Amino acid sequence: MSTVGKAGLEDVVVSTSDICFIDGREGRLLYRGFDIDDLVEQSSFEEVVFLLWQGHLPTRKELDAHVKAIRATANRKLPPKMIAILRALPRKTTPMEVVRTGVSALSAFDPDAADNSRDASIRKAMRVTAQLPTLVAAWERIRRGKAPIAPNPKLSTAANFLYMMTGKKPTPLAEQTFDVALTLHADHEFNASTFAARVTAATLSDLHSAIVAAIGALKGPLHGGANEQVMLMVEKIGSPERAESFIKKALAEKARIMGFGHRVYRVEDPRAKHLRRLASELGQQVGDMSAVRILDTVGREVTAEKKIYPNVDLYSGAAYAAMGIPTDQFTPIFAMSRVAGWIAHVLEQHANNRLIRPRSEYTGPTRATYVPIEQR
Ligand code: ACO
Repeated sequence: MSTVGKAGLEDVVVSTSDICFIDGREGRLLYRGFDIDDLVEQSSFEEVVFLLWQGHLPTRKELDAHVKAIRATANRKLPPKMIAILRALPRKTTPMEVVRTGVSALSAFDPDAADNSRDASIRKAMRVTAQLPTLVAAWERIRRGKAPIAPNPKLSTAANFLYMMTGKKPTPLAEQTFDVALTLHADHEFNASTFAARVTAATLSDLHSAIVAAIGALKGPLHGGANEQVMLMVEKIGSPERAESFIKKALAEKARIMGFGHRVYRVEDPRAKHLRRLASELGQQVGDMSAVRILDTVGREVTAEKKIYPNVDLYSGAAYAAMGIPTDQFTPIFAMSRVAGWIAHVLEQHANNRLIRPRSEYTGPTRATYVPIEQR
């Protein structure tokens, strides 16, 4: 009799972890015990990064030192040779390919690259978390034939990224929205990309390698790539009036609707409501609510017909689009935030490591006879 569990490791508990808790029935998400609803209201992405890595909320002194480090130009800037590598890439290279290639190349410039001690890993963690927004924004500028904009150490991670993308300091609402989006995406237990990072770290490979593995997993449309697909669907639908018939037809054709469903949540993803509110506030500010209206109708139809609920990816793209961010940059933005969680998991894995090496149940032949090539 087969000993294989449900496909896709569904419901398999692989390890203990102190970092993140998801209650899929109640629709709750906790980082280190703190409800994301409270963190969204009272904290910031930069503080959440500290919380995830260190396991507790910082004192004022700890937070000041952490924020100073994460905003420091020394940590945020890309080595000039890294910019040269970006310039050498074909213009058509997708932003996620650039992020994957970029993080891999950045390890070659990192003085602690191969050192897996906790102190060295925290130094690398600070650099790679600070560099990722610079990398994403630099590629946006380079592919448009413009010069990258240097990071501004006076600006928060959220404001600095929007500044480096557009050359303009963001409005307070755009900064706050972006900060909340980063906070909401920062960790999510043993999701596919985090598991990929942990498997890689468990071979005692280094932090950059674990992050590159995670980026590869995040790129897929069943995971982080879904937010991009949602916006492409919104563009295809075109106007709120067309949303209902579009979705009815898509569901009748058994299409998978991106931004819905989840392996763990049986109710609405607790992150979706925050992103809907922010997308709607930004839409009002820029005077274009059509994406939010389309998504509201899509949401009603999909939930009524299929009993599946919006996930984090449904409204995030509408918020980013209202800030003028191109669709193919949505998943890199996800990576800029989730890197905080990947790092927390690599630190936890390295602190109490055992190689992750599951088994498969072999279903192939067992007594195949080798036939010489001339006789096949
Ligand atoms: N649209 C239509 N039907 C769906 C969807 C969807 N988005 N999600 C699940 N279903 C249906 C499936 O067709 C299947 O129905 P069936 O039993 O009649 O065949 C049933 O629900 C179960 O689906 P599975 O794919 O087996 O569920 P699983 O837990 O493996 O999938 C996943 C989870 C991959 C997230 C899925 O819901 C999906 O593909 N969603 C769309 C992509 C997406 O939004 N991904 C982002 C997830 S959040 C994140 O990673 C950040």
